[in-house]
Amino acid sequence: MTKRAVVKGLGTYAPPRVLNNHDLERLVDTNDEWIVTRTGIKERHIADPEETTSDMAEKASRIALQEAGIEGDDLDFVIVATNTPDTLFPSTAARLEARLCDHPVAGVDLQAGCTGLIYAIEMASAMIQSGNFHRILVVGADKLSSITDYQDRTTAVLFGDAAGALVLEGQESTEFGILGSYLRADGRGGDLLALPAGGSRLPASAATVQERLHFLKMNGNETFRFAVKAMPEAVEKVLTKVGMTLDDMDLLVPHQANLRIIDAAVRRFNLDPDRVVINIERYGNTSVGTIPLALDEARHQGRVHRGDVIVLVAFGAGLTWGANVIRWGH
Ligand code: COA
Repeated sequence: MTKRAVVKGLGTYAPPRVLNNHDLERLVDTNDEWIVTRTGIKERHIADPEETTSDMAEKASRIALQEAGIEGDDLDFVIVATNTPDTLFPSTAARLEARLCDHPVAGVDLQAGCTGLIYAIEMASAMIQSGNFHRILVVGADKLSSITDYQDRTTAVLFGDAAGALVLEGQESTEFGILGSYLRADGRGGDLLALPAGGSRLPASAATVQERLHFLKMNGNETFRFAVKAMPEAVEKVLTKVGMTLDDMDLLVPHQANLRIIDAAVRRFNLDPDRVVINIERYGNTSVGTIPLALDEARHQGRVHRGDVIVLVAFGAGLTWGANVIRWGH
């Protein structure tokens, strides 16, 4: 057997402040019934203005490091998947590294929309398999409230803030760990979900601020159509890639963007609800935070066992989509 990356630690964090649907009714022209029936979301956690993406990442990472029984200095590399870095540079990974480690280790940010954590897991896994790195901290952290327009009812109701972290470590001759991944990106659909200003294409100006172009813009219907195809495709492709079928999958942890998108995948695969993790009602879409939050919650509910085959699947801005297969344990 070859060397594999196994999950040695998992930690998550969501800010304590809760914004429920009734709070949103006071901000935009919406109502609890519409939000629940169209999205499945009842409440989301929102960071305080001064709480940054790296603050949330640090909280999740410390839990993951503790569970792995290691210190920050035992890491070789830090990857932070985020769409809302503290600053465009320095990277959030470098900021996080400075807080977790006494001595410098390598670190980089990765931006792949809500699929970022799936990408980061595969990249860390390949780096570990290469033999060049032994322990990598993979973090998904987003403060979407910082780019959400609370005057736009079509997006304001969807998003929340959270972070999740995994410690991946190389192990020889193991049946556990990251078995394989499927990753895709197609920029032809990029304008469906975008943050128009603040980059080199449209640098910040008085006009971009006035036109509210520093908030995310989304074509909800088209994104929905893309998602209901992309998630099942990624699940099927990744299982085929590792020589498995849906029957081998013990648990599906899908990106939590809209309950109807998850339900469509569940119906398509005719899955027993016990095999799918859903917690969107309490967190909304926390971007790269959804999958670790859902996985961690399932674990605490006793739904994750050593040896289980778990599929993580996501889609997001880019457009991007992808999935990982993990045999849980180490
Ligand atoms: N409250 C009340 N009414 C709302 C509303 C809100 N928050 N948002 C939109 N509406 C209205 C619309 O204006 C429209 O009214 P109209 O019929 O008078 O024009 C009506 O509700 C239906 O809007 P529509 O956009 O067709 O609703 P929908 O059922 O497609 O749901 C989304 C909208 C955004 C929830 C859904 O398209 C979606 O989840 N898309 C995918 C988003 C996603 O996954 N993003 C993250 C990618 S990582």
